[in-house]
Amino acid sequence: MEEWKVAGALVLGLACSGAWAADPNLGRNLAAGCAGCHGTDGNSVGGTASLAGMPRDRLLARIGEFRSGAKPATIMHQISKGYSDEQLALIADYFASRKPAGGER
Ligand code: HEC
Repeated sequence: MEEWKVAGALVLGLACSGAWAADPNLGRNLAAGCAGCHGTDGNSVGGTASLAGMPRDRLLARIGEFRSGAKPATIMHQISKGYSDEQLALIADYFASRKPAGGER
């Protein structure tokens, strides 16, 4: 009897985590954490680089350089280590899908 409860809880837990990963807004929600410095939707209005429209591979490569220390940073070396590879992939997809301001409109 007890084993069934444990197995049921496990299955439920897996189902829930699967639903979380499939949330279509997850990338946008995670990317909101970058907006404070890189601008809403990745269109920076300050001195920070715009991320809107940046190709996925380029963004992930930059993050990798920050993580490894290959590229010197004031803050991004810390921020880049605060996300899992899965989360960064979602963030990269989100910014790649954004239109750069002043671009084709
Ligand atoms: C506290 C402000 C801040 C936040 C939050 C922030 N960044 Fe940055 N970002 C910077 C600064 C400043 C730089 C320039 C490098 C440095 O000094 O760290 C930078 C550089 C970058 C670059 C390199 C741009 C280029 O073309 O060279 C990328 C890519 C990047 N950030 C992605 C992100 C992502 C993705 C997030 C959210 C997960 C994020 N940043 C959150 C401040 C921030």
